[in-house]
Amino acid sequence: MSNPVTRRSGLRPRLLLVSAALVLGAMSGACVAGVPQIVHARQDHFKTLGRTFKSLRDQIGRSRPNWNLVADDANRIERLAAALPSWFPAGSGEGSGVRTRASATIWSQPRVFARAARKLLTRAQAVHRAAAGRDLGALRVRTRALGQACGSCHRRFRAHGSWW
Ligand code: HEC
Repeated sequence: MSNPVTRRSGLRPRLLLVSAALVLGAMSGACVAGVPQIVHARQDHFKTLGRTFKSLRDQIGRSRPNWNLVADDANRIERLAAALPSWFPAGSGEGSGVRTRASATIWSQPRVFARAARKLLTRAQAVHRAAAGRDLGALRVRTRALGQACGSCHRRFRAHGSWW
């Protein structure tokens, strides 16, 4: 240990630690700066989801829906439902300093949240199949079931108030 070569090389890990801490610090700074954009994009996606779902509900209220529009809506909803889990990176919820209704329970109960998102996707796929088959009866039932998947996630994971 008194060998100067060993002692010199013993300094290296400490230097590595210091530079790692600097890199981590810079990275977390970048993440914090990204939260408003993440929340904004998420709320935009949900607005699109809300508009598209409303359009679908309008169509199922008709005796002769516009099936092309129904197919577009069903596609869009399915794509959004598949992407939904990626809109919630850790640190982008309530308490992040950004105005958001994403409840902290999303991250404290990740499996329950993942299940709620999965339920949305399964029901969106069922809507998609009814739309592809132009089966209005099935489309009505499945669109209502889809709406229940929105509502049950909101009750659990969207903070204060309800959109429905
Ligand atoms: C897995 C959970 C989950 C599901 C399923 C879900 N939502 Fe949401 N929704 C949220 C959360 C959480 C927020 C709050 C997001 C925020 O404020 O950052 C939200 C917000 C919204 C908003 C408000 C957006 C804004 O800021 O103006 C609308 C509209 C909306 N959802 C519609 C829907 C519709 C329609 C469905 C079903 C087709 C749906 N959501 C399904 C969790 C969910």
